Amino acid sequence: MAQLLRQPDVLLLDEPTNNLDLDARHRLYSVLDDWRGCLLVVSHDRALLDRMDRIAELDGGEVRFYGGNFSSYEETVAAEREVAEKNIRSAEQEVKREKREMQQARERAARRTSNAQRNLSNAGLPKIFAGTMKRNAQESAAKADGTHAARLSAARDKLDRAERAVRDEQKISLELPQTAVPAGRTLFLGSGIRVRELFDGVDLAIRGPERIALAAPNGAGKSTLLRVIHGSLAPEGGEVKRADGRVAFLSQRLDLLDDSRTVAENLAAFAPAMPPADRMNLLARFLFRGTRAHLPVGVLSGGERLRATLACVLFAEPAPQLLLLDEPTNNLDLISAGQLESALNAYRGAFVVVSHDERFLSEVKIDRWLRLDGGKLLEAGRG
Ligand SMILES: Nc1ncnc2c1ncn2[C@@H]1O[C@H](COP(=O)(O)OP(=O)(O)O)[C@@H](O)[C@H]1O
Ligand SMILES: [Mg+2]
Repeated sequence: MAQLLRQPDVLLLDEPTNNLDLDARHRLYSVLDDWRGCLLVVSHDRALLDRMDRIAELDGGEVRFYGGNFSSYEETVAAEREVAEKNIRSAEQEVKREKREMQQARERAARRTSNAQRNLSNAGLPKIFAGTMKRNAQESAAKADGTHAARLSAARDKLDRAERAVRDEQKISLELPQTAVPAGRTLFLGSGIRVRELFDGVDLAIRGPERIALAAPNGAGKSTLLRVIHGSLAPEGGEVKRADGRVAFLSQRLDLLDDSRTVAENLAAFAPAMPPADRMNLLARFLFRGTRAHLPVGVLSGGERLRATLACVLFAEPAPQLLLLDEPTNNLDLISAGQLESALNAYRGAFVVVSHDERFLSEVKIDRWLRLDGGKLLEAGRG
């Protein structure tokens, strides 16, 4: 903010909203809306990116510019993807057709050679002629075969190019029936919860597969309340009951896994009854393929750490019925945030999420909004 007062010509902002709460985000948005100079923002905050005039995408060492805001960038990318996928399908057809034609040409050539041989022996020609004619037939068949092979290989190259043109979006698709929660089951019941001077007399019941967002300004005690729900912090007053063993906490630091052990070893600890081959298949679906599954968690990137944590938490035995997520998208890039959204949309249990990321909250279909205000927990309207 102080930078803005100096009225520079060009303003560069690097992830300006990552750790801001909702009110602070909106204050920054409106300042930027009024900003008349040139503005260059690096961000994963989709609400902020939607306020830009152009989007530059840095991918594979190249920058591409797209006119319009983030939503229109997404539309363009989706349209390009559709074209690229159509190209793949037609290239696949072409490979199939070339293969068939090559096979048919080979069969025709074989028939011709044996016909010619039969005719020659019937005609009683000397062996030397027969040999020459057979050689000629073989040579022309080989030439035709070479032409078909070249066409097939051109078709395969085209398919290869079409496949490479499709962005590797790295989607995770999951089914999580084991996380289903019966509608009436009480997962957490707290009454009169008191923690220091933060809150007193907080009541909260979580029943069935509720998808809850918890909002409040920074410092209000959101993380503290999550720890009370989780059971890692005992309140100083009040009573709490929970579905023990089936509550999982994804802290912002994603420190649930053992950094010194590999992804596969961590999953084995969470899901000991799952056969090892199933574990490897599962990790492949979380995009840990081949040797990637045997990397120690400590060396993973932020996005990989998220995927490893999700695999372990969602397939833990027993499966979680209540997930607690503390500002999960703050340090995630857009692909990782999308992966988290699809995992949460496959998840069938209850969750409480603390987040200031409006786009994330709308993607995961919140059905109950809570707000910590003046030491009380209030049911709130949207946002
Ligand atoms: N273990 C602790 N002991 C004392 N104060 C704490 C402790 N943990 C957090 N706090 C304080 O409690 C307040 C609420 O923290 P927190 O729950 O992290 O808020 P939020 O997640 O809403 O930003 C902050 O002022 C913080 O400094
Ligand atoms: Mg917090």
